Amino acid sequence: MRSNKRCNDRWGAACQPRAEGWPDACLRAVSWALLASLLVGCQSEVPYFRPNLVEIEIEQDASEPVTEDQQRLINETMLALFGTPDRPANPFPEDAQAADAQSPLRTFGFDVEKLKVSAGPAYRDAEGNQHGLYRLHCAHCHGVTGGGDGPTAAFLNPYPRDYRQGVFKYKSTFGAAKPTHEDLKRVLVNGVSGTSMPSFRLLPDNEIEALIEYVRYLSARGETEIKLIEYMAAEGEMPGSISEIAGGFPLPVDDEGVAEEEPEEENVVASVMYQWKAAPVSVIHPVSSPVDFSDPESTAMAESIARGEKLFYSKNLQCNSCHGDSAQGDGQRDKYTVWFKWREDLGTNNDDQAEINRVVHQFMDVGALKPRTIYPRNLRLGVYRGGRRPIDLYRRIYSGINGGPMPAQGTVTGIAGDEVPDSEAGGSVRREQIWDVVSYVLSLPYEPLSQGPPQRQGSKYTPR
Ligand code: HEC
Ligand code: HEC
Repeated sequence: MRSNKRCNDRWGAACQPRAEGWPDACLRAVSWALLASLLVGCQSEVPYFRPNLVEIEIEQDASEPVTEDQQRLINETMLALFGTPDRPANPFPEDAQAADAQSPLRTFGFDVEKLKVSAGPAYRDAEGNQHGLYRLHCAHCHGVTGGGDGPTAAFLNPYPRDYRQGVFKYKSTFGAAKPTHEDLKRVLVNGVSGTSMPSFRLLPDNEIEALIEYVRYLSARGETEIKLIEYMAAEGEMPGSISEIAGGFPLPVDDEGVAEEEPEEENVVASVMYQWKAAPVSVIHPVSSPVDFSDPESTAMAESIARGEKLFYSKNLQCNSCHGDSAQGDGQRDKYTVWFKWREDLGTNNDDQAEINRVVHQFMDVGALKPRTIYPRNLRLGVYRGGRRPIDLYRRIYSGINGGPMPAQGTVTGIAGDEVPDSEAGGSVRREQIWDVVSYVLSLPYEPLSQGPPQRQGSKYTPR
């Protein structure tokens, strides 16, 4: 719970101990404050971001403990770099070049004006401008620190995204690359269908833009913290002074403002921001589609669907191994939880139930949410979290789903669409064939289940 000093102070003011006992005003203040903080996780000021104790615990468990003094040093560094939930800071020092379009600030930094509108407690100013957008709209799910652990989170499935991992799922870029600005905008405007992530279509554009900037900020902040903890655990010291941790500037940039070379690992914030800046380079541009998706009744489409079905159940792609012979998501369902990455890190990704329970309790004690299984999607519902346009599905299948078990069928060399011949692009199928799989997936909600192709029945996860 985001209890904080300010909230406590407020109760305190009405609750000075008196000889005659607890005054009514105090009880009222306490119950209102409790109610308010239960509902919204405390809308008032929040002095600090919450340290990532789960990441500290990962290191302790891997027998590379981070001492309390070292944790304090990390917290102080984070405060100096990123400020607080009420007063966000730009980790890159403002210098004389700040006005210059090529300055590191412009290249890597955050738009502090936008951050200010999103940060802090929610209120409307005299001109009617809304402030504290993030705490108003997002924090009860995603948490003030962006850890995906706001007061509502534990009740949701799937859980809200933990921005601090820097892992995003529904994006146009390949593999682990960051989402583009447009990707985040699409998520905010459309929401994530089939989950509790709502659409914010009704907010004015400038507010959406301010929120996108704040998500980037919380994510870069969280990733920086994780990297500092990892570095501290491995090396027993910080990677350098605060300005060294911020960045190795100035870096030469190309015409698009992308740094020409990657910052050093020790320049932690700059290397995280480099990934955000470089995201557009990783956008997947599909090869042109052999079918016209606006004409679903065409013969060409029927043929594409038939080819796609073969691929879906082929030894090569094995989509049915997870999504099931029925494509209802009833293939392999028990292997992956939202924790599968952690458990891998911890070397406990095994079937030893006692060991799993130990780790689960240890992590929940420091604030992690209970592990939940990531089920393969039921593809007969026609609900696609990452968008239902053919291009969204092409990218999902080409790249897999970052942060989960759904595998990639394409490779990084092939993301530039027609420019790279299939023979050089690698991957498990020709890129053109991915469009056939898209055709098949899009046809699934309309295929009568009872009339599934006879060859498929009884195959029970053994691909033809
Ligand atoms: C009611 C809870 C809820 C609220 C409120 C909410 N979200 Fe989410 N959000 C979610 C859930 C749940 C997911 C994860 C969906 C999934 O994994 O499929 C998510 C995912 C996201 C993602 C990640 C998308 C991706 O590609 O991985 C972003 C970004 C995001 N939310 C931003 C926001 C912002 C900004 C706000 C406030 C304007 C907000 N959310 C408000 C529940 C919420
Ligand atoms: C190793 C298991 C696995 C395999 C193999 C697999 N998937 Fe998935 N797939 C998943 C899981 C798990 C999800 C849900 C991911 C999530 O919610 O984070 C998913 C989600 C999807 C989605 C939903 C995307 C959205 O936007 O909601 C589609 C479409 C999909 N898979 C198609 C395919 C196709 C086509 C193949 C074969 C090329 C395939 N999958 C192979 C596990 C798998």
